[in-house]
Amino acid sequence: MANFIDIAPLSKRLGAEITNVDLSSELDSETVDEIKKAWKKYIVLLFRSQSLTNQQYVNFSKNLGVLDEAPLDKDGKMMVDGFPELLIVSNIEENGTAVGSLGNLECEWHTDMSYNPKPPMGSCLYAIEVPDEGGNTGFLNMERAYETLPADLKETLAGKRIKHDATHNSAGQMRQGMTKPEDVTKSPGAYHPIIRTHPETGRKSLFLGRRPNAYIESFSSSESEFLLDRIWSHITQSQFIWEHKWRKGDVLLWDNRNAMHRRDPFDNIKRRYMHRTQISGDSPF
Ligand code: OGA
Ligand code: MN
Repeated sequence: MANFIDIAPLSKRLGAEITNVDLSSELDSETVDEIKKAWKKYIVLLFRSQSLTNQQYVNFSKNLGVLDEAPLDKDGKMMVDGFPELLIVSNIEENGTAVGSLGNLECEWHTDMSYNPKPPMGSCLYAIEVPDEGGNTGFLNMERAYETLPADLKETLAGKRIKHDATHNSAGQMRQGMTKPEDVTKSPGAYHPIIRTHPETGRKSLFLGRRPNAYIESFSSSESEFLLDRIWSHITQSQFIWEHKWRKGDVLLWDNRNAMHRRDPFDNIKRRYMHRTQISGDSPF
């Protein structure tokens, strides 16, 4: 008999907690199917109180799809030795060098790696050390945000593409080898449909990447800015948002195709250390 999972919604917007699953064990195919079904329905899934080795976390993540490899560090080394799929998200420094990405800074609303032609379908974070306060992560339901968009905006955006800026990361730091864009119509980044269709559910959502240096094709940069400001003031309403307060042992899995996320800053004297896996995706349509 399959070990059926228990699912408890975390908000009306998105998110569900899955209980009755030990992610350190090898999951049978029925359990994996149930998790995938719940992921499709709730967009963000939370598994609490997990205790995983690096190998167990990678094994769990591989149930969800093909994993992307994490970028190498400045010296060309894997962030976690022997585990090319693991990225460290942390503010911890050792001998004056950051052990991971994103520090303790606020991360503005974004979807992961969408400046690439094939952005990851999902991402997963495993909390190994967390501060007692700060560093909460918010999620935004972009299907709801799209459905409730004023009709004239929906019409204006239909069939349009948006450029997802490649120059800065979600913490606002310049990516290696990039310069600050002078002209958003010409700066580097991938174009994607601004209204995308989820390949598994057929549902539509807004696909924005992030606000700074975005550009909607076929408009002047000032027209594009005006439209983007209108869109962003609509989508960032609390009715679309759910926020997660982390505990050690949390595994949080999200869909990058129909959700954005952001992170609060936190006090840099506190330690926050997470491992991230990223599930590869296809070209948005
Ligand atoms: C990420 C990210 C948020 C956080 O890893 O992609 O945005 O809470 N992290 O650290
Ligand atoms: Mn992110």
